Amino acid sequence: MIIDGNKTAAKLREDLKKKIIDLKSTYNSLPGLTVILVGNDHASKIYVKNKEKFSKEVGINSEVIRYPENIDESIILNKILELNKNKKISGILVQLPLPKHINKKKVIEAILPTKDVDGFHPLNVGHLSSGYDSRIPCTPLGCLLLLKKVEKNLTGKHAVIIGRSNLNGRPMAQLLLKENCTVTITHSKTKDLKGICNKADIIVAAAGKPKLVKGDWVKKNAIVIDVGINKTDSGIVGDVDFDEVSKVVHAITPVPGGVGPMTIACLLNNTVECFKRSNS
Ligand code: GUN
Repeated sequence: MIIDGNKTAAKLREDLKKKIIDLKSTYNSLPGLTVILVGNDHASKIYVKNKEKFSKEVGINSEVIRYPENIDESIILNKILELNKNKKISGILVQLPLPKHINKKKVIEAILPTKDVDGFHPLNVGHLSSGYDSRIPCTPLGCLLLLKKVEKNLTGKHAVIIGRSNLNGRPMAQLLLKENCTVTITHSKTKDLKGICNKADIIVAAAGKPKLVKGDWVKKNAIVIDVGINKTDSGIVGDVDFDEVSKVVHAITPVPGGVGPMTIACLLNNTVECFKRSNS
């Protein structure tokens, strides 16, 4: 089974569009999302363009603020403080990675936790890791929704996560713990990754290594979610060797057309949730 991220994301956007129409008639205002993009990172520019496009499509008031690579950190921090106070802005997202001279932690912590659509603020991270309701980072949330397309009840499943980043691996682990999975987090220093993956009911690959997960790494009934987006000479590939692994496992997400579109749809969802919270 190939898990269709494009289709699932389109349905999520359709549902959000309807929800936003209802919210507009209730509150006479629309959710607003501001994205801050610093520098010229090619992939970031494409992501931000798509975030803007799909925000508009579902009825979110969307704005992108672009700064040059050499911008002063204080200008970004002041802009965030201004957006924090602006009642028309429900969500603020600073696209990562940031240039080296800018303190990422400081920038993330400047965003009001209630407007933190990424779920990266330490308060939101803490809520998630304590098992409380919180804003869930967009990519792990997208992965979970795709997993649920295949298996509604994940209780007792052994989930192996490859990668321990704050964007993907760590929040994914917390989400799967909440779903009563037994979670193993692996990373670049892990020994016998293949042996660990061989025992997994669920694999979430977010290592940033093209075609890392091979056909003889996976169980027959496994579900494999591929978070990787790697540019290679033969085009964009995931962290999973799709041709090999798809022949073995029960279900797998493709790249492209798997997790990618879900990340954006979940960002729109998080923006709507922030808007609802601010009006409740
Ligand atoms: N860069 C790559 N993925 C993401 C994401 O989900 N949020 C932000 N802010 N930056 C990213």
